[in-house]
Amino acid sequence: MASLTIRKLDDGIKSYLRLRSAKNGRSVEEEVRVILREYCEGSPAPASSLPPPSPAPTESPAVERTGPSVGQPSVTLIIGGGIAAFKALELIRRLKERHIDVRCVLTRAAQQFVTPLSASALSHERVYTDLFDPGSEFDAGHIRLARECDLIVVAPATADLMAKMAHGHADDLASAILLAANRPILLAPAMNPLMWNNAATRRNVMQLRRDGIHMIGPNAGEMAESNEAGVGRMSEAAEIAAAAVDILRPPRPRPLAGKRVLITAGPTHEAIDPVRYIANRSSGKQGFAIAAAAQAAGADVTLVSGPVELRDPPGVTVIRVESARDMLHRVQAALPADIAIFAAAVADWRVANEGEQKLKKTPAGMPPLQLVENPDILATISKLEDKRPPLVIGFAAETEHLIDNAKAKIARKGCDWIVANDVSPSTGVMGGDRNTVHLLTRNGADIEVDSWPVMTKEQVAAELVAKIAKAVENDS
Ligand code: C5P
Repeated sequence: MASLTIRKLDDGIKSYLRLRSAKNGRSVEEEVRVILREYCEGSPAPASSLPPPSPAPTESPAVERTGPSVGQPSVTLIIGGGIAAFKALELIRRLKERHIDVRCVLTRAAQQFVTPLSASALSHERVYTDLFDPGSEFDAGHIRLARECDLIVVAPATADLMAKMAHGHADDLASAILLAANRPILLAPAMNPLMWNNAATRRNVMQLRRDGIHMIGPNAGEMAESNEAGVGRMSEAAEIAAAAVDILRPPRPRPLAGKRVLITAGPTHEAIDPVRYIANRSSGKQGFAIAAAAQAAGADVTLVSGPVELRDPPGVTVIRVESARDMLHRVQAALPADIAIFAAAVADWRVANEGEQKLKKTPAGMPPLQLVENPDILATISKLEDKRPPLVIGFAAETEHLIDNAKAKIARKGCDWIVANDVSPSTGVMGGDRNTVHLLTRNGADIEVDSWPVMTKEQVAAELVAKIAKAVENDS
């Protein structure tokens, strides 16, 4: 009886067998036995799932995709050699969950950490490892791997791989793909903190950024090596997948590109003494949401915020202040602006004589707290002669006679628009996630009122920014 040596089979059949056996959890030999048995029993593997014949040097495409999905974005994922390579397997799953096709390339060092078989089983695609792999190199396979995708992701991007990229080396499949690429490239660096901070790596990172390469991470944390911590951990798979999706997404319209937007948010704290203050219940959520929406619309956004427990919106310059007077100074310093939105719940009063020491209880009774009025930031900026922003928007948080009070406020403060909202405790607006607002706009001597349905604060922000974009467009 003749014997069969799998090693001697043609490459297309070998890769099909590897993939099929990995999917079915069998060894390649077992898989061959199953196929032969099925054939003898008259139920051979469907013809469509059989591999194409091994490529002939002159005619076959070098890169065959085993499971292409028409219209889906695709990523070439280069897995570098580092302990973080195991997270790249999770990344394949995260990308596929987001309906992105993934084709993997493993460097020689990566194969010390993960096997091509696991990458191919997860990606449902053939995995590429060698620059001179006869199955992929005819017809310049590295060029096709570099270009037949929408994005190249390198995870983990090792110090060595980044150094090669920065200097244009192409001595293996991964570096050749990166050099031949005309697609965006996203790196997820991972290395020991000492390597990340090394002057050579710093230079390479700077060069790669200048070359327009996207980067995510590395994060700070513990290293795989015992007792080592610092910046160098690869970002988590979900973070890298989200960054990839951001790059793949078609560019958003940026109607506020080139516009400077100044926003205030949150409460102010007015000191009574070194440990006590007067405050209000504003969470800052609405102002922060407006800042994020304006930034997403392309504006250059400065957010002056009172004390809140919110994270800085990405891409926004955030200035944290305490009191109304601090807020006014920082707003004045941030001018000029094209649009100013005053969403802060500024305290109307402060204590006239702030105690230098903690006030004590005395037998004589309560210490007298004399209040003085704070500066009105909205009114001050609305009435500026030289640096008044062309569009000034205030907020009116009222618990009664909402529209009438808001109309009176436009006139009194001298602003152009007012966003009026009912903040009676029953509405849950203060500190909550939803808002019901009315937009009052000045049209000559008239004031128009546009009442919006209940929305999340993010939706209110998006709607307000859309209105601003329209107004700015009509003015230009
Ligand atoms: O007068 P009232 O506090 O109701 O006005 C609300 C509007 O005025 C908001 O836009 C708020 O940010 C702004 N304001 C201000 N400075 C103050 C008080 C209110 O900018 N001292």
